[in-house]
Amino acid sequence: MSSEVDRPIIVSCKGLTKTYRTNSTAVHALRGIDLTIYQKEVVMITGPSGSGKTTLISVISGILNADEGECLIEGHDFNKMSDEAKTLYRGAHIGFIFQAFNLIPMFTAIENVSIPLVLNGTSQEEAERKASELLTAVGLGDKLQAHPPELSGGQQQRVAIARACVHQPDLIVCDEPTSSLDSQTGLKVMEILRSTVLSHNGTLIVVTHDPRIQQFADRIVKIEDGRVVE
Ligand SMILES: Nc1ncnc2c1ncn2[C@@H]1O[C@H](COP(=O)(O)OP(=O)(O)O)[C@@H](O)[C@H]1O
Ligand SMILES: [Mg+2]
Repeated sequence: MSSEVDRPIIVSCKGLTKTYRTNSTAVHALRGIDLTIYQKEVVMITGPSGSGKTTLISVISGILNADEGECLIEGHDFNKMSDEAKTLYRGAHIGFIFQAFNLIPMFTAIENVSIPLVLNGTSQEEAERKASELLTAVGLGDKLQAHPPELSGGQQQRVAIARACVHQPDLIVCDEPTSSLDSQTGLKVMEILRSTVLSHNGTLIVVTHDPRIQQFADRIVKIEDGRVVE
């Protein structure tokens, strides 16, 4: 996608650097990342293990601070927000899907998916109504009351997708969402994720080194040694 895209900029990173320091070593995880992502784009970030992908999306999602450079999300600089403002902003505008799903095992599927809405002030009843709608849309209408341990990997991943999308966040960030799924399930999960995000004009960033799912990207950003290489 060219730089003259006529849509709002959702992510704007300029000159991001991040070094992890321990007593004896310094690992330069990000060495000057520039990246602009527009509304309704589906961007995949690829690159070898250790190239800085997880560090980059952690900075983009406000989980980690960069050492230098600037990262604006919809024009907001997390470095300039109080912790409370940042938490509220992230809860309302960003959805996450982690490699390990991070579902709460003692909650049912519908309760897991309701969490972001309840945290944003929606009543439990309304939250469960929306959660049920979305779980049905991802093909889990018959698993609303199931607990995560009773579900297959692909089903758990669909619950995680529903949870990340239910409050219609502007930006959804996923770290290796298909790494523990077989290829058929991985393709299906990506299809659902892409269409769910785009149906509410969201923007999707997916870290992956799974070549099978790259067909779902509008743009692929390749990272090596903490730099964007293409
Ligand atoms: N918390 C940490 N402390 C020290 N080094 C880290 C930490 N997290 C990541 N690293 C190192 O930073 C580099 C980039 O890591 P990461 O962003 O996880 O890459 P990727 O997701 O592409 O595999 C790697 O060399 C990794 O070992
Ligand atoms: Mg990683």
